[in-house]
Amino acid sequence: MLYRLLFRRVLTHVDPETAHHLAGRLIRLAGAVPPLRAAVTASFGRMPDGVTHRVFGRDLPGRLGLAAGFDKDATMALGLRAVGFAFVELGTVTAHAQPGNPRPRLSRVLPERAFVNRMGFNNHGAAAAARRLARLRRTAAGKRLVVGANIGKSKVTAPERAVADYVTSARAVAPHVDYLVVNVSSPNTPGLRDLQATESLRPILAAVREQAAYAAGRDVPVLVKIAPDLADGDVEAVARLAVELGLAGVVATNTTIAHEHGPGGLSGAPLLPRALEVVRRVRDVLGPDPVVIGVGGIGRAADAQAMLDAGATLVQAYTAFVYEGPTWPGNLNRTLR
Ligand SMILES: Cc1cc2nc3c(=O)[nH]c(=O)nc-3n(C[C@H](O)[C@H](O)[C@H](O)COP(=O)(O)O)c2cc1C
Repeated sequence: MLYRLLFRRVLTHVDPETAHHLAGRLIRLAGAVPPLRAAVTASFGRMPDGVTHRVFGRDLPGRLGLAAGFDKDATMALGLRAVGFAFVELGTVTAHAQPGNPRPRLSRVLPERAFVNRMGFNNHGAAAAARRLARLRRTAAGKRLVVGANIGKSKVTAPERAVADYVTSARAVAPHVDYLVVNVSSPNTPGLRDLQATESLRPILAAVREQAAYAAGRDVPVLVKIAPDLADGDVEAVARLAVELGLAGVVATNTTIAHEHGPGGLSGAPLLPRALEVVRRVRDVLGPDPVVIGVGGIGRAADAQAMLDAGATLVQAYTAFVYEGPTWPGNLNRTLR
């Protein structure tokens, strides 16, 4: 209630990226100071004992996690857990640090409870993320977290050299994470989504899987994140490739370019129907065992439940967290169980 008022009266008058940085500071603070973290967890993020979900060889306290793009540089994981996300996907990180597209590059579409973003993978680079993750994992609270890393292609890297670029990121972060996501679906790096074609994707996924395991000294679950704009046949082709390569699963979906609000990817409520359809198709091809992370337009518990009914193992959200505020993830996770 309070947050909705704050959002409507104050935050909507602030540039959305500036508001994001402000929120980021608060979340980092909530994670960094142990007594504060305990208080935030007690108010927002507490999960009833005894119910866990076994995924990636870890016990997750709930099914809702934070989607990629919010914590691009791996600085907020503890605070995000404290507000009630059961797991956190960091990134997208790229092999080379890069500034992303010029601002403004994030806009609200208020009536649709949506965002359009053309961030372009602004991040400090995979090596910096790896250093932060290593530090996080040395702490007891950091070890308890379930953390994934989402990796993308650097803008300066030509598509022909994409395999080496993804492998550099995979090797850097794999030792510190519970799962890796190969992102070939963001609309804001020119040519990136063409890598979803199976002949381009196969060598990337195979190399990432092998090199991640080598760098980490264990099998690291690798998933591929796809766009909602793929034709149904292409969704199924990627899912078949995931089966062929023995991947851990698929993340569906990224933002869509099918909208009329200018360049960039649309996230939030309008995405839900197509994301559900993609999850259903992916699950059909994968069979019961691989992990499907359903993401796109989840706002209410019923939306998350629909994702699970469509075949998702876990769900993620980004946009609704911003619209609904810090009580939202914990409430949804508690409702889902
Ligand atoms: C501002 C913004 C930045 C994003 N950045 C990334 C990213 O770096 N990598 C990625 O895989 N997805 C990124 N996404 C997509 C989200 O992870 C998610 O797939 C999408 O927003 C749909 O979920 P939602 O409707 O709950 O927001 C971003 C989304 C937003 C709104």
